[in-house]
Amino acid sequence: KKAAIFISGGGSNMLALIEAAKDPAYPVEFVAVISDKKDAGGLAKAEARGIRTAAFERKDYDSKEAHESAILEFLAGLQPDFLCLAGYMRLLTGKFISAYENRIVNIHPSLLPLFRGLHTHQRAIEAGMKVAGCTVHYVTEGMDEGPIIAQAAIPILDGDTSDTLAARVLTAEHRIYRDALKKVAGGILATDDTARVISFG
Ligand code: GRF
Repeated sequence: KKAAIFISGGGSNMLALIEAAKDPAYPVEFVAVISDKKDAGGLAKAEARGIRTAAFERKDYDSKEAHESAILEFLAGLQPDFLCLAGYMRLLTGKFISAYENRIVNIHPSLLPLFRGLHTHQRAIEAGMKVAGCTVHYVTEGMDEGPIIAQAAIPILDGDTSDTLAARVLTAEHRIYRDALKKVAGGILATDDTARVISFG
């Protein structure tokens, strides 16, 4: 199966996926990395690994729709089977999502449905949670909603800051994203029993 990865920043999740796909047995080929930021650090990492990249700065387009149309046009040339959002800090319109119905996945750094949105680790610490974690889910119009495919629960340790917790969760993000995509590539929907990927610590 072919997939395109969307990033806005450093792309450590993107890198983990690209590394996983080096294994010929991995059922996904990443055909492009797309960013909404020309200066996204992940673009150079993708290019260094021979993966086509494209940047679409929002400010270069008159509207959100025009911005998304340019991306959809680029994708039409590649025909990816699904899209992987990985640190992509932009919401997709229903029109975009319907073009890839049930074929867009996202990684979010919390145990959804808890802590949708930003600053998830700080919020979990402030809430007195004993566990944090990350979630791979299908993308729907709502922010950080959609059927859950994989989750990892990560302990919050005494003295953790959002940075120390983020680093611990990020390692788990890489692991569950890689494993979850194998399920998605196999055409398994989040609602199937065998879809779920769970890990601890
Ligand atoms: C990660 O916590 C990811 O879950 C969130 O953005 C952070 C950085 O991701 N979406 P990456 O290193 O750019 O993949």
